[in-house]
Amino acid sequence: MKQMISRRHFFKQASGTLAALAAFPSMRATAADDAALQMPGKEGMIVRASRFLDLEAPVEFLDSWITPVPHFFVRNHMHEPSTLDANTWQLTVGGEVEKPLSLSLADLAKLESHSLVNTLECAGNGRSFQQPHVPGIQWQRGAVGTGRFAGPRLRDVLERAGVKATGKHVMFRGLDEVPGKVPPFIRSIPIEKALDPDTLIATHMNGAALTKHHGFPARALVPGWIGAASCKWLTEIKVLDKEFDGNFMKPGYRYPNHPLKPGDPLNVDDSRALTTLAVKSVIAAPADASTLKSRSMHIHGVAWAGEADIVKVEISTDAGATWQVAQLGKERSRYAWRLWSHNWKAPRSGDYTLMSRATDSQGRVQPASAEWNPSGYLYNAFDQVKIHVEA
Ligand code: MTE
Repeated sequence: MKQMISRRHFFKQASGTLAALAAFPSMRATAADDAALQMPGKEGMIVRASRFLDLEAPVEFLDSWITPVPHFFVRNHMHEPSTLDANTWQLTVGGEVEKPLSLSLADLAKLESHSLVNTLECAGNGRSFQQPHVPGIQWQRGAVGTGRFAGPRLRDVLERAGVKATGKHVMFRGLDEVPGKVPPFIRSIPIEKALDPDTLIATHMNGAALTKHHGFPARALVPGWIGAASCKWLTEIKVLDKEFDGNFMKPGYRYPNHPLKPGDPLNVDDSRALTTLAVKSVIAAPADASTLKSRSMHIHGVAWAGEADIVKVEISTDAGATWQVAQLGKERSRYAWRLWSHNWKAPRSGDYTLMSRATDSQGRVQPASAEWNPSGYLYNAFDQVKIHVEA
């Protein structure tokens, strides 16, 4: 069972919060007691790491179909680029292509723009709930958000360059500032996904140009896949004859082919690069460890399944003994989460454990406990909150 932490504890435990306050003079705790950070454009987000900025949304922010940019999580493996000039920025396309290209932002803007709504989730979201504990950024529930992304199709750019028959994978490089000996954040996706008409070179998010935290001036947008596939501050696209095998593809972001016993190390030769997201739901409200003054309540949250569709979300109000089907929100789009809600009246005052579990169009059901793996990737056990009803 996962660890239960009240919101106040949640902030106090946010690793790096104090370091972040020192590193970002513009950040201020609103009250000594509750370090909801005031970073311009990212107010109220939780700082999970500050050397390289990692921001998590408090779970109560996951209450709208489109996540406003200020509430969208940020995951950086290294420093964001210190200078980005839209006028001089160039995107090169090379490798296994007939005609290498160099495109400016104006060149990209001339291509047909495609728009889609995508739920972006970090593969490590929920890692902090893995038992036994695993190292890495201790994300809880909020390394996920849904945005409307727009920009040219990667396929259109690759077609202009002419992919050779030898082109099997497409590699992305960003403009991150790589500190010291840290390997650069370079990853690749298979050519089939690169040529999918929904895979974008996104320049816009929620109707405006990308902000710097989210990859200005352009990022890859690989819908339904782990967030790491969607390279920010894109500067180079290279078509390869095989999967890229640098640090962030191997051993990073890999999943064991066969279930491991907790504590077992990853055997890289018996693992695969992570691709699509798992089926998952989270409860946005009521808040964990909260006391409710009314017996009637509106339980609500979000559920997503990567390339699959959510078909059902069930709620238990008795710690998993019985389940009721929740109502799904009307807004839907391939790759986007569904809002869900369930009105419930507690029969009497007392303590309750609420749980949510999602089912998708591929028949995948959110499990009672997640499959353990050494990096805690794709954690998707039932979500649960404990509440006290005092009415
Ligand atoms: N792209 C670059 N260049 N550098 C990065 O560190 N992080 C990746 C991905 N793209 C990353 C990157 C990871 S792990 C995730 S989960 C998503 O960006 C997060 O996107 P966001 O910060 O816009 O939410």
